[in-house]
Amino acid sequence: MLPSHETLIRMTESFKALLLEQQPDGPEATIRTLSLDDLPAGAVLLQVHYSGLNYKDGMILRGQGNLVREYPHVPGIDLAGTVLESADPRFAPGDSVVLTGHRVGEIHWGGYAERARVRADWLIPKPTGYSTRQAMAAGTAGFTAMLAIEALEDHGLRPDAGEILVTGASGGVGSIAVCLLARLGYAVTAVTGRPENGEYLHRLGATQILPRSELAQTPPKPLLGERWAGCVDTVGGDMLAHVLAGMAYGRSVAACGLAGGAQLRTTVLPFLLRGVNLLGIDSVLCPTERRRAAWERLATLLPGDDLDAITAEIGLDDLPYFAGQILAGQIRGRTVVRLDPEDARTA
Ligand SMILES: NC(=O)c1ccc[n+]([C@@H]2O[C@H](COP(=O)([O-])OP(=O)(O)OC[C@H]3O[C@@H](n4cnc5c(N)ncnc54)[C@H](OP(=O)(O)O)[C@@H]3O)[C@@H](O)[C@H]2O)c1
Repeated sequence: MLPSHETLIRMTESFKALLLEQQPDGPEATIRTLSLDDLPAGAVLLQVHYSGLNYKDGMILRGQGNLVREYPHVPGIDLAGTVLESADPRFAPGDSVVLTGHRVGEIHWGGYAERARVRADWLIPKPTGYSTRQAMAAGTAGFTAMLAIEALEDHGLRPDAGEILVTGASGGVGSIAVCLLARLGYAVTAVTGRPENGEYLHRLGATQILPRSELAQTPPKPLLGERWAGCVDTVGGDMLAHVLAGMAYGRSVAACGLAGGAQLRTTVLPFLLRGVNLLGIDSVLCPTERRRAAWERLATLLPGDDLDAITAEIGLDDLPYFAGQILAGQIRGRTVVRLDPEDARTA
């Protein structure tokens, strides 16, 4: 069958994308004009309004972690936009949708392009009350913070339990975890390596600020005083080992990240003598029902206006610089990437 007139127009439609190409000393990012037939196969064609900048995006842009297998590649692990075409009955043109994880931006082309073609299974409806920009201000970071808190709750955490630690607190996952825990009524201790962010963290709801240096090394003993009732850890490495040694009896740590390192040098004593739980958090392959429910709860607890207050906006051109900044631990809160907002073509 011949393609329809509309399909023919669409196939020649051009759009901007950040393309990573492999060079001898690592991937190089350039802004390119692509056409729709450059996009991979998929049931749903999207106009991408916003993407985001996560730690993993920084790794991909800098060629770290062997996350991308084939070049040329369009990175961007998050995207939010409008359905233009759908061969899947679950989505129709005009629907507002969000995609995070599913290895999009890693082994599949991602959100750093004005158009994306993706599998319908990867999409969820835009959460109630968020604009596409606000959905990306939350992004993988907000979704992961919500999953981490739900894992702690599933293991018995309640607001009267005591002090809850958030490590890497001024980063994306950390900032949103502090906000959410404070709104749920927890006493939050925020760990940061940047004392200048103390006022910011108090505004988000932290009751105490702890300098990173106090937890940065492996603990002096396998067990310390039982201080923490729970922890959302985005740092990993020696800080996670230190936190485990200071957990109260039967309490849990939600391990989300590795901003401070992937190696975990610890003993089994916190697990054996204190019944401490180390809970793994994975946002990438989280099943759809849980994903939708967590996003809706996130949007209820953290209204879009509050997300706006911790969010900066950049364009595709800015990404190579900001990739270095996020890997160096220099980004505060969240960063959205503007692609092709609904009003951009008429503006
Ligand atoms: N499991 C999942 O599904 C999942 C999902 C999202 C993210 N993650 C992971 O979670 C981590 C945080 O992601 P993000 O997007 O929130 O990144 P981010 O915005 O860069 O936040 C990381 C924060 O960690 C702290 N930090 C940075 N380098 C450090 C170091 N060497 N030692 C100790 N603390 C350090 C900094 O906070 P302070 O300056 O306040 O100390 C920094 O802002 C990353 O490792 C990411 O890969 C995992």
